[in-house]
Amino acid sequence: MSKLKVAIIGCGGIANGKQMPSLAKLEEVEMTTFCDIVKSRAEKAAQTFGGEGAVVYEDYQTLLKKENVDVVHVCTPNKSHAEISIAALEAGCHVMCEKPMAKTAEEAREMVEAAKRTGKKLTIGYNNRFREDSLYMKDVCRSGELGEIYYAKAHAIRRRAVPTWGVFLNEEQQGGGPLIDIGTHALDLTLWMMDNYEVKSVMGNVYYKLSAQESEANAFGPWEASEFNVEDSAFGMITMQNGATIILESSWALNTLDEDEAKSSLSGTMGGADMRDGLRINGEKHGKLFTTKPELGAGGVAFFDGEKESDADREARLWIESILNDTEPVVSPAQALVVSEVLEAIYESARTGKAVYFGE
Ligand SMILES: NC(=O)c1ccc[n+]([C@@H]2O[C@H](COP(=O)([O-])OP(=O)(O)OC[C@H]3O[C@@H](n4cnc5c(N)ncnc54)[C@H](O)[C@@H]3O)[C@@H](O)[C@H]2O)c1
Repeated sequence: MSKLKVAIIGCGGIANGKQMPSLAKLEEVEMTTFCDIVKSRAEKAAQTFGGEGAVVYEDYQTLLKKENVDVVHVCTPNKSHAEISIAALEAGCHVMCEKPMAKTAEEAREMVEAAKRTGKKLTIGYNNRFREDSLYMKDVCRSGELGEIYYAKAHAIRRRAVPTWGVFLNEEQQGGGPLIDIGTHALDLTLWMMDNYEVKSVMGNVYYKLSAQESEANAFGPWEASEFNVEDSAFGMITMQNGATIILESSWALNTLDEDEAKSSLSGTMGGADMRDGLRINGEKHGKLFTTKPELGAGGVAFFDGEKESDADREARLWIESILNDTEPVVSPAQALVVSEVLEAIYESARTGKAVYFGE
């Protein structure tokens, strides 16, 4: 069988750090085409990850017109996710788009429509679902062991780790700050664990408190206050149709010791599960409270060439398998759309001071 031809659009941090190294390990695919508005980045990617005859483009539209690729990975800033993904779907390609799905919920909706219209597969790069603790916790949730999950926390809190590269601080390019950047991962995980996508209402607040302080302690180096025009923290309260509550906390810079990222804590009628401090399952048995810490990695885990498979590799493999086997990708566009809708509702609620009611 011939290999699936993959094009990478946007050859920056996530393409080099996650997408391309993981695709390179899969025998079923070849990266044939690389595109970046900064040509040297596409050229470097082609040299590192492309085979003989790999081609380079600066303009994705020309690429889609000229090249016959099967799969497109969209790794550009949030603003162009929808535009490029829709064009690639229309050109007959399956699309993996980096998170968040899009800059706005309306754009995310258009992406869902485009996938339906074209019959091509679309998935979003919510790689945290593919961690061992996430997969285990998902199994626990799926088994019904926790009973009805009616309270959850989605954690995305950093003390000082404002991304200072690329356009992360630019509202026009990204659509927001930590909420749309890392809150999106935590919320995706939490909704997926709960398997509950029926939102009733959303309230939120966003803060622009520390962005004026050009912190020396920032993990990614000091930022330029004048360029920091997205929020530095955002918090939301989401009420689901069945009455469940989700608290979403997100920050790139917060004076707290309670930091943790891309984690969920769940409370159900029969037990709880918490990804913080290692995965812990809690509840009551035989009249006593218990907390167990599953030994992740001991058996039952997929191995790859004798090595433990990383989250990123698992994400890429399962995505490509969903294309080859014509099955639903683990991250469905409909699920990712709900994440985008909730994030947008938190921004809207913060702006208006009112709750946003879904389905009205
Ligand atoms: N899954 C994750 O955990 C994760 C982590 C980091 C970033 N991301 C996502 O990946 C996306 C990119 O982030 P990054 O850190 O790689 O940023 P980056 O700035 O390092 O890379 C983006 C690249 O896209 C290029 N580009 C911009 N517009 C383009 C266009 N129209 N056509 C072609 N190339 C274009 C830029 O020149 C740059 O090289 C963002 O949406 C971000 O949210 C996801």
